[in-house]
Amino acid sequence: MANKAAYLSAPGSKLEVKDAPLGKPGPGVVLIRNHAVAVNPLDILQQDYGVLIDEWPHITGTDMSGIVEEVGEGVTRLKKGDRVAACAARIITKDPAMTAFQNYALAPATLAAKIPDETSFITASMFPLALATASAGLFQSTYIGLPVPGAADTPDLAAKAKVILIWSGASSVGSCAVQLAAACGLTVLATASVKNKGRVEELGADIVFDHSKADVVKDIIAAAEGKMVVGAFDAYSSAASLTHCADVLHHFGGGYINAVTPRFVEAATIPEDRPSPDELATWNNVWLDFLEKGLANGKLKAGTTPLVVGTGLEKCQEALNRYRQGVSAEKVVVEL
Ligand SMILES: NC(=O)c1ccc[n+]([C@@H]2O[C@H](COP(=O)([O-])OP(=O)(O)OC[C@H]3O[C@@H](n4cnc5c(N)ncnc54)[C@H](OP(=O)(O)O)[C@@H]3O)[C@@H](O)[C@H]2O)c1
Repeated sequence: MANKAAYLSAPGSKLEVKDAPLGKPGPGVVLIRNHAVAVNPLDILQQDYGVLIDEWPHITGTDMSGIVEEVGEGVTRLKKGDRVAACAARIITKDPAMTAFQNYALAPATLAAKIPDETSFITASMFPLALATASAGLFQSTYIGLPVPGAADTPDLAAKAKVILIWSGASSVGSCAVQLAAACGLTVLATASVKNKGRVEELGADIVFDHSKADVVKDIIAAAEGKMVVGAFDAYSSAASLTHCADVLHHFGGGYINAVTPRFVEAATIPEDRPSPDELATWNNVWLDFLEKGLANGKLKAGTTPLVVGTGLEKCQEALNRYRQGVSAEKVVVEL
């Protein structure tokens, strides 16, 4: 089996497809034959600035879906031939083979979920990093710390008395956060542009506010009066959106805002001891249960529309260029 990958040679370089080593899955790791990969903002930061890259040349990409080719020691939940969505996770594991834009990639089995037969590889590739980011912010005790819902659970009606604010509910991360928070049974107040309001409501938001409206904070506060506000998840995280979230929480006596971006994160800010036990517990709950069952029973849907730029690793550069033009409730995908 030969492997090829899309490499960056330095900050600012174009992706170049070259032969690549074939990863050998160690304990707890799986080797996946990729069939689709998706673009994240991190891929752009890596290409433009080398963010979180400690070794050149570097294969970029985090989101992938495909078929398990080989499992490492101790992996019992997955087997050769399983269809999966997986997060390549190099930024956490520091393993250079755990990157997505290649034909064969490694992933921790704890970040690889089986997908139902009805879910296409394109759809499956749209979840991994966005779902990981949303679930970390919502469920890890160091962040908002909600209890993880089971994908088959009926939410407790009492939870409706609690409110969460999700800023930018039509983004990749925000659309996952809306669905996870709705599965917790919370009253979900979200923001989006007017054209994406119906889409975010379909994902489970109770009220969707136009984030461009001048008095959006006043409207959100009015909707949350009388309920307990458990926190805000800012899936956009600009100075303006963070200020809006802070203004809402301040009105209710304070609270925790989960921000998703350091837009220029330094490699040194990724701690050495990841995954933490808290992080691993969230991965276990979300990847081993929610993703697979939620896709099967409809509790988890692609919140964004796939923009498939073509087939083959050579299309990855075009995919990054397409993402740079801007997306609105869309995810850029390449089929392999
Ligand atoms: N993708 C990931 O897995 C990931 C992981 C970690 C961190 N992050 C960070 O999370 C942020 C979002 O990433 P993403 O991939 O979810 O983004 P994305 O899908 O590319 O975000 C696009 C969305 O941003 C919304 N938006 C545009 N301008 C806005 C504004 N002024 N206020 C609020 N929302 C606005 C748009 O919503 P409307 O069209 O409705 O206006 C659009 O749908 C980025 O800063 C990224 O670095 C992302």
